[in-house]
Parts: sequence; structure tokens; C-alpha cells
Amino acid sequence: MNTTPSASTPSFAPESGALTQDQLKTLVGQAALQYVVRGELVGVGTGSTVNKFIDALATIKDQIKGAVSSSVASTERLLALGIPVFDSNEVERLSVYIDGADEIDGHGNMVKGGGAALTREKIVAAQSDKFVCIADESKLVEVLGQFPLPVEVIPMATARIVRQFAAMGGHAVVRQKNGQPLVTDNGQHIIDVTGLQIRDPLAFEAQVSQWPGVVTVGVFAFQRAQVCLLGTAQGVKTLTF
Ligand code: 5RP
Repeated sequence: MNTTPSASTPSFAPESGALTQDQLKTLVGQAALQYVVRGELVGVGTGSTVNKFIDALATIKDQIKGAVSSSVASTERLLALGIPVFDSNEVERLSVYIDGADEIDGHGNMVKGGGAALTREKIVAAQSDKFVCIADESKLVEVLGQFPLPVEVIPMATARIVRQFAAMGGHAVVRQKNGQPLVTDNGQHIIDVTGLQIRDPLAFEAQVSQWPGVVTVGVFAFQRAQVCLLGTAQGVKTLTF
């Protein structure tokens, strides 16, 4: 495994002036089109950066078969733009999966799930040959754990899982929406864990994934990124891992 990221010079450079975070997301969303294999299906993630990618994908929709989506929200956006969406069970392999991240380290390991779609994201990532992460440079970290770690849990196990994270030095809270626990596309809850320094993402993901009641932990080390298109003040930088 190559653990040293290599960075290319920016391929999509801004014309002038500082770019907003929204503009950086648009840039990386458009840059991701170069990884979409024409004539095939593409795996599509979830989130505000992926929304920019979906908008860009619509401009080449006649050149692809369609998409496998990681959330109800992305499916609705894809369909609204006339991009056919296929069930993941209908598809054996995807060449590429394009998704954002809440954090990515210098090895392509990520924390994901800020949009509560981590379970379906991990499923589609697992059936894809290549994970291309699209993010702005605020997401690049030395050690995972700066962003609260999302974990999808079965509600009857929540209190026990919260205690298990406390024993590791973490503080977990149930994510709320409109004063109630947020319910995911899979009918489960999300807990967000702060106070962790995840220095061995593979071991951490393997350990927490085994706890009864954990549906999915938001560390993506087994399904890490091979490429990251990072929006920076100088344009889009390509990191390969
Ligand atoms: C959704 C995710 C997103 O990829 C992550 O939260 C980044 O989102 P955004 O592009 O809006 O910053 O994991 O579950």
C-alpha cells in the first residue's frame, strides 16, 4: 500500500480572487467528471459537495448508463435531473464511487456520515473499484477525530454503545432533528462522538464495527479513498494514496 499521498499541481485553477467554500465544492464536483467511466454506472455519495457533482453529472447524463445512489436525498436529486438510478443489488461492480467526507487524512482514510448516510455510502463504496473523495481543504487532517464521529446504531443499543465510547475517552450524543432523534434512511439513529484521536483507523473501524447494535461506524479505512480531489485557494489538487 502506498502511504505517501502524491499531489499534482492544480488542474482546475480559479480565475481570480478568493473562492468561497461553495465555489470550491463546485470546482471539485466538476473535476470529478474526469473519473466517470463513460457508458457505465457511477456510484454517487451524499452531501453538499456531492450535490455539485450530481449537477455536473447531469451535463454528461447521455454518456452514462446511470447511477447507484447512497441516500434517498441523492436519489431524488439524480432522478430530478433525469439520471436513472439503479438498485445496488442489480449491480455487481462499479468502476468508481464519488463522495465527500467530513475528514480525510494523508492516507485516504476518512470520517463520513455528517449527512447521516454512512451505511449506504459504505455499501456502495464497497462495491466500487475506486473511491474518489471530493472535498474542500478544510477537510484534510493529520489525525481523524477532529470532526464528531458519526455512528449509526440500533436504538435499543444506544446507551451501551455510548458507555463503550466513554470507556475509550469519547463523548457520544444522539443526533437530533426537530427535537427528536434523527431517523436515518434505514430507520436507525446516529450518535456523534467527540474527544477521540483515531490513530489507527483500520483497527478502530474493525473494533467498533463488532459492537452489538452498531450498524456502521463512520470511519472509512477498509473503504478508504484512492484519490482525493481537494478544493484549495490555488484550485483543485489531486491527492493519490
Ligand atoms: C454524508 C457524508 C458526506 O459525504 C459528508 O458529510 C460531507 O458532506 P459535505 O459535502 O456536505 O461537506 O458523509 O453522510
